[in-house]
Amino acid sequence: MGRLVVVSNRVSIPQGEDKAGGLAVALNALMEHQGGLWFGWSGHTSDDAAAVKTPRIVSHGSVEYATMDLSPEELNSYYNDFSNATLWPLLHSLPEQMHFDRHSLHVYRAVNDRFADMLLGLLRPTDTIWIHDYHLLALAASLRLRNIRGPIGFFLHTPFPSPDMLGSIPEDSIFIRDLLAADLLGFQTSNDAENFVASAQRIAGAARLPGGGLQLGRRKIRVGVFPVEIEPAEFASMAEQACASPETERLRRSLDGQSLILGVDRMDPTKGLRHRLSGFRRLLESHPQWHRQTTFLQIAAESRQDVDAYQDLRADLEHAAGAINSNFGEPDWVPLRLLARAGSREAVSGYMREARVGLVTPLRDGMNLVAKEYVAAQNPENPGVLVLSRFAGAARQLGAAILVNPVDPDEIADALDTALKMSRPERQDRWHACWEAIRGSSALDWGRAFVAALERTDGERDVRRPGAEIRLVSQTATPKAS
Ligand code: F6P
Repeated sequence: MGRLVVVSNRVSIPQGEDKAGGLAVALNALMEHQGGLWFGWSGHTSDDAAAVKTPRIVSHGSVEYATMDLSPEELNSYYNDFSNATLWPLLHSLPEQMHFDRHSLHVYRAVNDRFADMLLGLLRPTDTIWIHDYHLLALAASLRLRNIRGPIGFFLHTPFPSPDMLGSIPEDSIFIRDLLAADLLGFQTSNDAENFVASAQRIAGAARLPGGGLQLGRRKIRVGVFPVEIEPAEFASMAEQACASPETERLRRSLDGQSLILGVDRMDPTKGLRHRLSGFRRLLESHPQWHRQTTFLQIAAESRQDVDAYQDLRADLEHAAGAINSNFGEPDWVPLRLLARAGSREAVSGYMREARVGLVTPLRDGMNLVAKEYVAAQNPENPGVLVLSRFAGAARQLGAAILVNPVDPDEIADALDTALKMSRPERQDRWHACWEAIRGSSALDWGRAFVAALERTDGERDVRRPGAEIRLVSQTATPKAS
């Protein structure tokens, strides 16, 4: 194949700011292994028109990282408003949190066009292009309109909603049609892929073929399920070492024999943090035997703080945490520790190994790699228990966790009680089943499976003309079960 070109909003440059989250975890392995070009936003804004139009390029090993600044107006309308206040809640099926305005939509499309223009100057004719995530839904179509005819893949890291939910956004059909300009569309679970196919039929007029395919003219597009993975062995050994680190040692000492419940998230309205704190509160109300016996450490790393919903969330969580501690705390016992800062990956892996319970309860999540990391971090001889939202993509693989409805505080409280008193043999059995589900795959395998499936579309592209009517044939190019 030609050079791999990855395009995503955030770019994870080694030794740079570690801001790209799950996407970076997933992609770093592939880029290190395969080399290529990774293009995206620099994470900075600039008022200087020339700076905004010129990519900055740095090389590390066989990877070139090219980034561009956004103008302050683009940051606000493309990133804060349309990506994070419109698309993000919509894709997570939380329409009551969705805010829409037409101006932001226009800027969003203009930024996608600008990504395309900037890429044109960097591309080679034989490149294979892999676009990531909801910030760049219109990019494949922009590239085709600029006469880029090579293979283009798109992977969505978030969930994909039902056609009804998607219909709550104006111009839904345009987004579907834009996505159909790619040759391969990848999703985290079969549910997400199925929702996309149903939307393509209903909203963009594609016809489903017998056997599950879709057709719209001559154009063929594959739709595949590619659950994102971590590097399990690597994370396990990092956690084992971090367990003896001064950070974990200090945490252990501060617990003084209590069982640790641990949550690790970005501070994001989709992560179910309000309900999670209510669940912990309910545990303390209905199971008083756990007073002084357990501490809940919630790391909720500040995120997207220019978006109103995120500011409101922070205020609510600080209020709820204060109320829990003042109602239930004692002079020498603070039940809940809420931190708005991310720890280093190493330190957090040590905390995970120390935690008797990993509490991961998003309202909805594309995958949730923290759940997989918690499993990988455990000591097989004496593992902790994962309490996991049944609406996280990871629940499809980690069915041996305690699965909960993340909006039900009583269910969360009961799950915590069960986890805290679970016998060692049952913890080992559940952990073993979870570990078996993740240990055989890796982030690198995930990336390679997508790229291999994208290459297989080569013989199927018969229409790549700019402006050509987009027609879809969906075949579930499933490299592995979700
Ligand atoms: O898909 C969600 C995602 O884009 C992940 O890459 C990452 O975990 C997170 O959101 C980062 O958010 P942001 O780029 O807005 O800080």
